[in-house]
Amino acid sequence: MWTTAQRRRLTETPYADALERHASAGIANFHALPIGSLAHAPDPEDSRHARQTLRLFGTELLATQMTLGSPELDSFFRAHRTLARTRRLTAEAFGADETHYVTTGTTGANQIALEALRVQGARVLVDRSTHQSVHYALDRLGAEVTHAATAPDDAEHGVITALRRAAAEGAPFDVVVIGVSAYDGALVQMRRFLAALHELTATAGCRVLVDEAWTAIHAFHPVLRRNAAVPCIREALDDHPDWPASFLVTQSAHKSMLALRQGSYLHVVGPESLRADVHAAVYRVHTTSPSLPIVASLDVARAHAVAEGERLVDRALILADRIRDLGHATPGLAVHEPLRGGGGAYQVDPMKVHLHLGSPERAHEVRRELFDEYGVFVSRQDGPTLLFTVHVGVTPEQVDVLAEGLQAVCGGSAAPESVLGGRYVIAYPPGIPLQVPGEHLAALPERRAGEELYSTF
Ligand SMILES: Cc1ncc(COP(=O)(O)O)c(C=O)c1O
Repeated sequence: MWTTAQRRRLTETPYADALERHASAGIANFHALPIGSLAHAPDPEDSRHARQTLRLFGTELLATQMTLGSPELDSFFRAHRTLARTRRLTAEAFGADETHYVTTGTTGANQIALEALRVQGARVLVDRSTHQSVHYALDRLGAEVTHAATAPDDAEHGVITALRRAAAEGAPFDVVVIGVSAYDGALVQMRRFLAALHELTATAGCRVLVDEAWTAIHAFHPVLRRNAAVPCIREALDDHPDWPASFLVTQSAHKSMLALRQGSYLHVVGPESLRADVHAAVYRVHTTSPSLPIVASLDVARAHAVAEGERLVDRALILADRIRDLGHATPGLAVHEPLRGGGGAYQVDPMKVHLHLGSPERAHEVRRELFDEYGVFVSRQDGPTLLFTVHVGVTPEQVDVLAEGLQAVCGGSAAPESVLGGRYVIAYPPGIPLQVPGEHLAALPERRAGEELYSTF
C-alpha cells in the first residue's frame, strides 16, 4: 500500500515528538492550566485532591497539559510548522487534499464542516440516519433541510433516490449530508454511491459532507480501503476530473484508531475555495483551547495505523470470525446477519459481529452477566441481538474471556428459533434521532416503541 519512503515519512510523529520534548522540559507556566504544574511539583501539596488528580492521570499526561506558546508546538489556527506537517502527513495517508485535527470529537468536526459548507439558507439533503450533531447544527445554521428516507437494505440509497426526484422536479439540492459508517456495522457501498452521485450531479456539481465516524482505520487495510470514503472519493474525482464536486469527510479517530477520545479528523477533498472556507470555519467554531494531547494522539494514531494498521485489522478480522464461530457452535446463540439481500446500498463491516440471543430479555441478561461476572463490555443491545465491535485494541486474550463467558452463560440454553434479517437503522439515543421533523411516531418501526435501549457514551 505504501512505498518504503512513504512508509518512513508517514510514520513520523513531528507534533507528538515536540510535545514530548516540551512535557519533559519542566516549563514554568505563567499563563493557565494549573493542573499541568502538578506534573512538575516535587511534592504535590498536601492536598488529597491534588494526589487524586495525580493518581488518575499520571505525571506524563499531566505534563502534556500546557497552553501553546512555543514556535515548535505551532499555532493551532495558523499552523505552519509541526502541526502543519503532521496534518499534511495525515492527509497524504488518507488521500485528502488537506486534513484538520479536531479535539472536540466528530460532533465538533461535523459542526465545523457544515459551517464551511455554507448551509445557511441552502437546500440541504440529509440522510435520515445521520448523527444528531448534523441535525442540530443544520437547525442552528438555518438550513432548508429535507430528510432522505432510509431505504431497504437491498434498494438504492435513500439519498440517491431523493436526489433523482429533486433533479426530475428541477429543484436540486445545494448540499448533501450522508453517514457512511454507522455504529451497527452498516457501511454505505461508497463506489456505488459515488457513481450514482456523479451521474446525477456531473455538471451541476455538489457539496457533500460524509460522516465516516466509525471506520477511519479501514483506510489502512488493503481490502477495507477499497470502500473507505477518502480513497473512493479521490478515485471518483480522478475518474471524472471535470466533476465540480467537493467533499468533507469526518472521522472519529478515537473510535477505531489509537487516538484519545474526542480526536477527530476532518478531511477536505476539493478546490482551494473550500479549503479556505474550512480554515475559516475551524477558526470560528473550534474551541480556542484545543487539547494538545489529543492533537498529539491524532499524529501518533496516523503513524501507528500506517505502521501496524494492516496487521491489527487482520488480527481483528480473525477474532471477529472466532466470535462468529462461537455464535454458530454455542447452543443458545446464533449469528445475526444485519443486512438482507445483495446489490443494495450497504455492506457489512466485517469488524462487527451481531449475536442473536433469542429474545430481548435473554440478550439483556447475557449482557449483564458478561459484564458482572466476566468483565466483558458489550457495546450495544438491539432487541434480541448483542453487538460486538472488534476494534484493533481487542486482544486474543480478551476474546478468550468472552468465549468462556458466552459458553458458560449460554451453553445450556436452546438455540434461538430463527434469526431474521433486520433493517439497517437501529434506534440509537443519543446519536441518531428517533424522529425527525415531519415524521409521525406511528410511522416508526414498531420495535422502537418501548424497547430498552443502551448507549455507550
Ligand atoms: C455516525 C456518527 N457520527 C458522529 C458521531 C459523533 O462522534 P464523536 O463521539 O467523536 O463526537 C458519532 C458518535 O457516536 C456517530 O456514531
